[in-house]
Amino acid sequence: MKKKRKSNEPLSQNRNLLRWVEKMADLCQPAQIHWVDGSQAEYDQLCAQMVEQGTLTKLNEKLWPGCFYARSDASDVARVEDRTFICSQSREAAGPNNNWENPFEMRRKLRGLFTGCMAGRTMYILPFSMGPVGSPMAQLGVELTDSPYVVINMRIMARIGLPVYAEIDRGHQRVVPCLHSVGAPLRKGQKDVTWPCNKEKYIVHFPESREIWSYGSGYGGNALLGKKCFALRIASNMARDDGWMAEHMLILGVEDPQGEKTYVAAAFPSACGKTNFAMLVPPPSVQAQGWKVTTLGDDIAWIKPSADGRLHAINPEAGFFGVAPGTSKSTNPNAMATLSRNTIFTNVALTPEGGVWWEGMTETPPPHLTDWQGQPWTPAIAQATGAKAAHPNSRFTAPASQCPTIDPDWESPTGVPISAIIFGGRRATTIPLVYQAFNWSSGVYIGATMGSEMTAAAAGTIGKVRRDPMAMLPFCGYHMGDYFRHWISMQKKISETPRIFHVNWFRKDAEGKFIWPGFSDNMRILKWIVARARVRALARETPIGWMPRYEDIDWTGLDFPREKFEELQAFDRTAWRAEVMAHEELFLDLHDRLPKELIYERELLICRM
Ligand code: GTP
Ligand code: SPV
Ligand code: MN
Repeated sequence: MKKKRKSNEPLSQNRNLLRWVEKMADLCQPAQIHWVDGSQAEYDQLCAQMVEQGTLTKLNEKLWPGCFYARSDASDVARVEDRTFICSQSREAAGPNNNWENPFEMRRKLRGLFTGCMAGRTMYILPFSMGPVGSPMAQLGVELTDSPYVVINMRIMARIGLPVYAEIDRGHQRVVPCLHSVGAPLRKGQKDVTWPCNKEKYIVHFPESREIWSYGSGYGGNALLGKKCFALRIASNMARDDGWMAEHMLILGVEDPQGEKTYVAAAFPSACGKTNFAMLVPPPSVQAQGWKVTTLGDDIAWIKPSADGRLHAINPEAGFFGVAPGTSKSTNPNAMATLSRNTIFTNVALTPEGGVWWEGMTETPPPHLTDWQGQPWTPAIAQATGAKAAHPNSRFTAPASQCPTIDPDWESPTGVPISAIIFGGRRATTIPLVYQAFNWSSGVYIGATMGSEMTAAAAGTIGKVRRDPMAMLPFCGYHMGDYFRHWISMQKKISETPRIFHVNWFRKDAEGKFIWPGFSDNMRILKWIVARARVRALARETPIGWMPRYEDIDWTGLDFPREKFEELQAFDRTAWRAEVMAHEELFLDLHDRLPKELIYERELLICRM
């Protein structure tokens, strides 16, 4: 028996899509259906509706033109890795790096959860393209969601709406179905809350059928399904099958004084500096020499072997979902310019003037704020209770096109050639500021064994070091051992491999202070990396790789003594013993699928040590 539902005119003629929408509407029982066209008018209308409903606050138009503010439920502030599932046919295919459940049982559970879950709400049909519409590297998805907040965020983060329906209707490409519900049906007459969500959360991926089902959360990577769920977990499966790579990487361009451009991709774990590095502003003294950095992406890279024998990368996203705390005019002026208008802020603090603030935005905090939980906040309260004005994982959603350093080729349909890949983690000890892998397989070893202290981007114990291979531990949609094999095998598909590096901006001294100034000054390290990738800089050999000597780094405009640099680069044999034992633990978990190259690399490392 079919219930009559209100709906606007369907915007696609694709029979599979129409049938799926109807089936999912029958399951979720929304009060109405809205086919999203992606227009500005629709965006404005949705924002107005959410302002009325209390989900959004319009910020002061003079100070923050086109900007809105949202405050989530305190239980829905980050990705939930322990509620994230990869439901492949076999447990082995998902690997020990993923939560696995039998797909048949999971489907049964999901059918139960989604039955009637959209009651009283609107189901939005949101078509999106990851990658420029029509690009040979782009992939299509449709997210059905009962969250208008998701729709407006996705409009910034991805290409959505009419041009995507046109792509879908051409029928040349498979479309990834993504179903999302906040899991908060409304009874007749029931008043809605400002941030509907459910204590029970399920972020579920079916890699073989390329499907995503997400329930219970409205926040970030749990709900904006084009991002981590599609562009990494599902896309990593597509990439393995089709000979390309889906990586948790920023992409940037470095232009030297002669105008020669070098593109670099870098994988750092969540909240470890990708956005900052992608928008790096060189120190004035280095700018004066004619060096420039341009931005292509800050979180995800899709990388493909190209006809020229090199790896080419696109940023599949169209916006930045960036960490707010720590972002300031001095640390990241490009981000500050990007988020100055048409931006959605989530879980930062509100100022009495209708502006936003977060820890680190200015040196002295404003005297009075409303914190991310809606409570009054003053510096005195913070001092007494330690209460943060903004949640440590509070974020801005801003259009990439507004970034002052956006690269002219950032939407190139075939991407840009990658000359260097950088891995990096957040490590207080042991790991040097920078070193270069000897070759591709030793570089894959470095990426595979990288470790990082956990951050607020995911629920968990903050500060604890965990192995986070290629910054993909929470995002690789299949067995990590197979993923390493895939990395190793990429070398055979190309004639020119990118050089591989490891960086650590976060080494601390005996007092617990960062030794390296970071941010802008990371340009000095990037310069060496680019020069090495172009075989123009010297280095010395160490047991773990090639390292710059003090004189190989451009120190103009910075007084950084040799001894401090040596402290940053120090290779401590005892600490590295423990490090290699931690590699062994990771390898034990993955042993049955580990490529032999990595086992040899480990042996070689031990021999060199
Ligand atoms: P996700 O969006 O979660 O993937 O994070 P991300 O990798 O883009 O991290 P982001 O650039 O947002 O940085 C996260 C935090 O690290 C912020 O608080 C930054 O201020 C801080 N950070 C970034 N770069 C540096 C650096 O060079 N040195 C130091 N000390 N901190 C940094
Ligand atoms: C990350 O956690 O790596 C992010 C934010 O980039 S989220 O979109 O929530 O995954
Ligand atoms: Mn990320």
